[in-house]
Amino acid sequence: MPRPMAVTAREGEARTIRSLPLDLHTAFPVSEEKIYLSICDSTVLAQSVRAAVDRFLDQVMYWREERSTRDSVVEATRAKFAALIGGQEGDVAIVKNVSEGINAIATAFDWRPGDNVVLCASLEHPNNVIPWLHLKRRGVEVRIVPPSDGAINPQQIIANIDEHTRVVTCSSVTFAPGLRTDLAPIGRACRDRGVFFLVDAVQSVGILRLNVEVESIDGLVVSTAKGLLGLYGMGFLYCRRHWAQRLVPVYLSRPAVDLPPDRYSEMASFKLEIRPDARRFEVGSVDYASCYAADAALDLIFSIGPDAIEAHTLRLADRMRRGLAALGLEVTGLRAHDRPSHIVTVGRLGCGGHEVTDDPWLRAISQRLKDASVAHTIRRGMLRFAFHIFNTDQEVDSVLALVASVKRPA
Ligand SMILES: Cc1ncc(COP(=O)(O)O)c(C=O)c1O
Repeated sequence: MPRPMAVTAREGEARTIRSLPLDLHTAFPVSEEKIYLSICDSTVLAQSVRAAVDRFLDQVMYWREERSTRDSVVEATRAKFAALIGGQEGDVAIVKNVSEGINAIATAFDWRPGDNVVLCASLEHPNNVIPWLHLKRRGVEVRIVPPSDGAINPQQIIANIDEHTRVVTCSSVTFAPGLRTDLAPIGRACRDRGVFFLVDAVQSVGILRLNVEVESIDGLVVSTAKGLLGLYGMGFLYCRRHWAQRLVPVYLSRPAVDLPPDRYSEMASFKLEIRPDARRFEVGSVDYASCYAADAALDLIFSIGPDAIEAHTLRLADRMRRGLAALGLEVTGLRAHDRPSHIVTVGRLGCGGHEVTDDPWLRAISQRLKDASVAHTIRRGMLRFAFHIFNTDQEVDSVLALVASVKRPA
């Protein structure tokens, strides 16, 4: 298959990545081997990210840098992530993944029987449902809101909030069918009622813009293993200071406590002062290798520009959607009321299992794409493609040509 060699933009396109300081095709070696449309499933490394991890490994192997250098990378990474989501540096804790961040919040409330949590379970990833179901043993009601037209409906979420609601949670973009959630009205409603608004943002951060202040978000969790272009084993938990002060972490260790190193020896006689911000949720040493990766990846994201990344990925996704629809496929996100994202899904939601589809045409297309080294996924019966900064118009056109070559079964 002919391979595009650089990201290019057509004349007149607004906010493109035309003026990038680097050749993204070279920066992401995956593009040499395949068309990678699976960032919604798994991260891929840029050369610069790999180099940062190598630097850390060399440091460990030869002990070339002081511990303080590692710690300064951790703090720089925290600050960069905070800047990306419009939060304060102290409001960000480093965690292991999305699940750990969600569980940190879910277990930090002093739940009373009859309290409730509101979510649209059928559109959430299991890792943002199971921690809440686990609270049923403490008498917490999990209020399940139905989806509307494949999307999380803010009005339905808000209508389910009552005086016993303590948490509302949703994804910023659903893993399937990949629509964007209108977060701001939910955030405002939660803020007005003193309810904690927790967003699973792993399917959008690093690709689409989001601002915790503008959208009145109290808590946000991501892993670095998707759009943030880092490694597995690390994530971020944002928690607004107002709430952090009221939530009591179940796990506690040194990073969470205000304790000067010169007083460790007197520790047993101390009244523990838990940090007043999100760092109270950070447990022990961080995964430094992943942190070096995240730091370099955030540099890359900022060097390109979050607005440019959003514009580029939304444009490619739109091109793909229209092309697939023109081939007669059922594509999500083309109706006027949809809020499409960088994720493109094809077929009917639920027409198959979590990673399989019952639709023979989609199965045949998937096989053809696999044979041509087009990385994609199947979720809940739908074919799923997702875009990031290294994808190109030419890649979209190549995929559309492959799809067009698969005849619809009679
Ligand atoms: C919306 C969403 N949440 C969470 C996860 C994964 O959670 P974790 O980072 O805990 O593995 C995924 C990934 O597959 C996801 O799509």
